[in-house]
Amino acid sequence: MYKLFTRIKNFFYKYIFNYLKYEFTEFIPNSKSREYQKNELIKTNIKNYTSSMLKISQWFYKPDVIYLSNLKVDRNVTNSIHDMFENHGSDKNKHGYDILYSYIFSKISNNPTILEIGIGTNNIQVASNMGKHGKPGASLRAFSQYFPNSEIFGADVDKDILFNTENIKTFYLNQNDIGTFDNKLIENKKFDLIIDDGLHMQSANLNTLRFSLDRLNVNGTLVIEDIPSSALDTWKIVATLLGDPFDLEIVQCIDNFVVILYRK
Ligand SMILES: C[S@@+](CC[C@H](N)C(=O)[O-])C[C@H]1O[C@@H](n2cnc3c(N)ncnc32)[C@H](O)[C@@H]1O
Repeated sequence: MYKLFTRIKNFFYKYIFNYLKYEFTEFIPNSKSREYQKNELIKTNIKNYTSSMLKISQWFYKPDVIYLSNLKVDRNVTNSIHDMFENHGSDKNKHGYDILYSYIFSKISNNPTILEIGIGTNNIQVASNMGKHGKPGASLRAFSQYFPNSEIFGADVDKDILFNTENIKTFYLNQNDIGTFDNKLIENKKFDLIIDDGLHMQSANLNTLRFSLDRLNVNGTLVIEDIPSSALDTWKIVATLLGDPFDLEIVQCIDNFVVILYRK
């Protein structure tokens, strides 16, 4: 009888009153309080968590933000990258990533092994889609044109857009499930360039980062695209956490930020 009562009570708390303790166990205050107070305290705890972590981490180190216009790039390279993105139908130019990638390409090896997460679905039911007129594989094809002798891998949660060409191979990966990063196709591979252009949210990005720490070649680079200013604190904290052999840069692009991680 008591068990039944508890189950009914929990049902009401969870589904009718939407008490957050069922979703955010980590943030439940360990203090005696009423359920409604607990709910408010959980919200306060979540809201303040990242900004407080940032303040603590900045006690030790404050990463600079570099402006896109201050990157040293070769205009001719930027123009040819711009044309490739444009011709293949990627939207990277609109964020200023033609400039960003001419900066990055000047630092990496000539025939880099590349992995890009986010192939570019045109299925509007999938989060982070490119719209129904999007061209799946646009950026992968642009990279393939720029580096014709490179091995290029693409990964996406949408299985319907996977494809293969001579130097592009793609596979299923869900950024929310770190286990899916371990695909047979890339078993034992190390990368010179890993790009995160997938779901664009912190926990998914952090999974890409966790994977990359172990899978970047020496002199390899991880690029995390499309970071809104609201999510920037997380990356400033990450910058303070990382030590040798990693360096991190935050670049302010046209309408968002990009994190670049270097493995020395
Ligand atoms: C902005 S598009 C990529 C565009 C492409 N890189 C380009 O520039 O042409 C983002 C992609 O992330 C994929 N995506 C969304 N959620 C994902 C997840 N959880 N794991 C992996 N990919 C995801 C979407 O299916 C979509 O194809």
